[in-house]
Amino acid sequence: MTDLSSDLEALRASARDRLAAATTTDAVEALRHDLLGRSGELTALLRRLGSVAADERPSLGRLANDVRHEIESAITARLESMRDVDLDRRLVDEALDMSAPGRPVRIGHLHPVMTLMRDLREIFHAFGFEVFEGPEIETDEYNFELLNIPPDHPARDLWDTLYVAEPGSVEAGQPRPAADGTILRTHTSPVQVRAMRALDLPIRVITPGRCFRYEAVDASHGFEFQQIEGLVIDRDTSLADLKGMLEEIARALYGRDTKTRFRPGYYPFTEPSVAFDVACLVCGGAGCAACGRTGWMTILGAGMVHPEVIRSGGFDPDEVQGYAFGLGPDRMTMLRHGIGDIRLFFSADLRFVSQFAEGR
Ligand code: PHE
Repeated sequence: MTDLSSDLEALRASARDRLAAATTTDAVEALRHDLLGRSGELTALLRRLGSVAADERPSLGRLANDVRHEIESAITARLESMRDVDLDRRLVDEALDMSAPGRPVRIGHLHPVMTLMRDLREIFHAFGFEVFEGPEIETDEYNFELLNIPPDHPARDLWDTLYVAEPGSVEAGQPRPAADGTILRTHTSPVQVRAMRALDLPIRVITPGRCFRYEAVDASHGFEFQQIEGLVIDRDTSLADLKGMLEEIARALYGRDTKTRFRPGYYPFTEPSVAFDVACLVCGGAGCAACGRTGWMTILGAGMVHPEVIRSGGFDPDEVQGYAFGLGPDRMTMLRHGIGDIRLFFSADLRFVSQFAEGR
């Protein structure tokens, strides 16, 4: 057996050399393992301590401890001196690594109702319509009176209106509608008058936007929803033009073979008024739960603009005519995707919304 004390000294010397030769922190850590680990070189030497003469043991033990401490602090010092260099090198490497794959950027997508509205805008654009928007906070005058619905007219019951309160009346415990007639618009029809007052003939606009009604919210009613109003005003515009246009739009939306029908309807601001149906998109016309077993689904209301409304818009009804229609994009989106509950649109639930990621 070789002399333990010279073996310890040899290890001390070799540790010094090998440590000096180690150029990376990984190499130093590997060295720590080789030298001081449980089956490392120092441990192997210490095992021999049991077989040396008892009077030599204390001094050899002290020497072994001394070697261990020296190696340990040399490792610590070496790592310390490397850290800064290592960090610098890593920063440089990363900054210059042109081949690193980019981090994926999560981009959002359109809400399905917005996607449908954009599709509609494209279709209407092809038919020569431009977009004309009006305010969501309206006046009683535009929302009703100028549309041939005077105060106290029973037709007002068709729209469950959200009134803005007269300042102070709520605090006084007696809420009443604002004297200036401010309301949240119940439909986009007031924009008919705004468009006529702002534009020259021929007028061919769609007016998309949010509307509000005092509704008991359930699977098919929201208190906030979208509408798209269409308005065409010109000389010699007829009901035949309206019919042709709506049929073309239904085909553009739902396909060439879509079956459609017109029914009589009633709106105070159109005369005559019609309801426009497409053959049920779910059952194809046979009758199912989605269409109330009728085989038809109503997608819009329409009609020839009432002479009073033409007059509200500043034109002479003996000289110009026109037609108007109002589409419900929420309803149409539900039909398009087979969505059974309108409340999902406002649920802010990503699991629902992210199913419609095709809309960018
Ligand atoms: N404004 C009507 C509604 O909200 C729809 C409509 C628009 C009807 C235009 C006829 C013409 O119910």
